[in-house]
Amino acid sequence: MELNGKRIVLGVTGGIAAYKSAELVRLLVRQGASVQVAMTEGAAHFITATTFQALSGQPVYKDAWDERMPNAMAHIDLSRQADLILVAPASADFMARIAQGMADDLLATMVLARDCPLLLAPAMNRQMWESPATQRNVARLQADGVGLLGPASGAQACGEVGPGRMLEPAEILEEVLAFFTPKRLAGRRVLLTAGPTFEAIDPVRGITNLSSGRMGYALARAARHAGAEVVLVSGPVALSTPAGVDRVNVRSALDMHAAVMARVAAADIFIAVAAVADYRVAQAAEHKLKKDDGGIASIKLLENPDILAEVAALADGPFCVGFAAESQNLAEYAQNKRRKKKIPLIAGNLIQEGFGGDDNRLVLFDEAGAHPLPPGPKAVLARQLIDHIAQLTGSR
Ligand code: PMT
Repeated sequence: MELNGKRIVLGVTGGIAAYKSAELVRLLVRQGASVQVAMTEGAAHFITATTFQALSGQPVYKDAWDERMPNAMAHIDLSRQADLILVAPASADFMARIAQGMADDLLATMVLARDCPLLLAPAMNRQMWESPATQRNVARLQADGVGLLGPASGAQACGEVGPGRMLEPAEILEEVLAFFTPKRLAGRRVLLTAGPTFEAIDPVRGITNLSSGRMGYALARAARHAGAEVVLVSGPVALSTPAGVDRVNVRSALDMHAAVMARVAAADIFIAVAAVADYRVAQAAEHKLKKDDGGIASIKLLENPDILAEVAALADGPFCVGFAAESQNLAEYAQNKRRKKKIPLIAGNLIQEGFGGDDNRLVLFDEAGAHPLPPGPKAVLARQLIDHIAQLTGSR
């Protein structure tokens, strides 16, 4: 639960995207956030307070004169209790009002009276978004330090196509998670490899392994949340690309090698999470091999380049982090791999714990020794590993 202990006021204004805010409440609550919903009168035309109350488990506020507040100062009390005010959807009218500093309903008054950051997820018709008035308001709000999430472009509820769609709830959640993550890698460029490689034998067969890509993708996401520019060179996996991450798809170890070497000069940090095949088939057959021909039984293998070792040997190369998946003697084998590849940091995991699932157990090995991390979700371990990397690279 990445938002444990965070208190978020979710403002909902009038727009058809308000129905998506119900899902957003669910996602925020599922990550451990305490969500207090405040709606405008316009929002109540699209969705009821009862829906938000049921999903957030908290009373919903609409009225500046709400008598449930003992001191009759809902705008002060609610905004003071928040770590973040997030308005999703933020209508053109609402953005115009708060850009002017107006306080003509509870939500606008809370925004004006806040002493916490404000994020807006705009949602409106494309002409309204592109109008000079809205663009003036957007520029003024940004100059005032307000964060904008989106809008996205695409088909709109009115039937038109263009910019102005609210980001999807899952995308807004990612932005909120990124918002709360300290920017320990701000300005750094991180290059990662993730997933398995696939070494073709013939058009239908190949050599691969059980890496799902989850550990590498979690690290790409954590690096991006920590403020880095992230390029993810990915073997074949069934995962969606983390928001804000630039993904390069590859299949074989040779493809992965080429993709990394083409980008490594622009990287400050290289994290090799991929389970790269050590060998490839010398000559993949053009046509399907027949069992009776004996071709499969006599496959000749060639050694693949060691991408990590090659990057680590570059004269002015990035800070290198490796992974080691072992079935036994984790500390000894991982430290040996670290020394052999001449890298400052390696994350060791046991094969039975690391491959496939959502959870893992990592031990980090560097010059100072071993740093075991508590077992847990790959997302949490990824954040801890990124913190460790930020610590080690802080003085570089
Ligand atoms: O993808 P998941 O299902 O989440 O599983 C994650 C994982 C178990 C695959 C991951 O946590 C992990 O341990 N990856 C490294 C697997 C491994 O043991 O690699 P290795 O011992 O073959 O290589 C050691 C290091 O060199 C790794 O950083 C590897 O990416 C790198 N390497 C290896 C061979 C090669 N030709 N090029 C490389 O860059």
